[in-house]
Amino acid sequence: MIKIIFAWIIGALLLLQAIRIDIPNPPSHIDPKNEIQAPQEIMSMLKTSCYDCHSYETKMPWYNNIAPISWEVRSHIKDGRAWLNFQEWNNYDEEKQQKIYDGIIKTINYSMPMPIYLSMHEEAKLTQAQRNTIKKWAQSNLKE
Ligand code: HEC
Repeated sequence: MIKIIFAWIIGALLLLQAIRIDIPNPPSHIDPKNEIQAPQEIMSMLKTSCYDCHSYETKMPWYNNIAPISWEVRSHIKDGRAWLNFQEWNNYDEEKQQKIYDGIIKTINYSMPMPIYLSMHEEAKLTQAQRNTIKKWAQSNLKE
């Protein structure tokens, strides 16, 4: 009985793989002119901790291609890019940029980078000091 259930589960997982979800990763969209400009220290933190979801340069470990993980991951990337794409920065008007700086200040100590992502990406973890540095940088760009 256990064997049959097990076989069904494996079969179902294999079937799921047929539903392919491609993450669009269009290098042709990347125009260096549009990328956010920030001090080197900030840029390198954004690149290691935010770019997987907030740029076109998404790097994914192999298991992210396996359904149903791939569906969840794809939705994070899709939503993340829609909210904020550091490589589209100069296409945003000032109001949107200001909103994002404000959003960074509000989220950097809690929800960004997403905790579920950090649990699988050791390299993207930020120390408290690094979070403070990002927060200060965002604050220095706020115009009020
Ligand atoms: C695993 C994907 C992922 C990573 C990594 C990530 N984000 Fe996000 N981010 C999202 C998603 C998805 C949203 C859309 C809103 C939501 O679901 O909370 C979002 C929304 C945001 C917002 C808008 C939130 C608001 O309420 O205004 C900001 C600002 C933000 N992210 C900043 C960052 C910064 C800064 C980093 C890196 C330090 C980062 N994110 C890393 C996925 C991610």
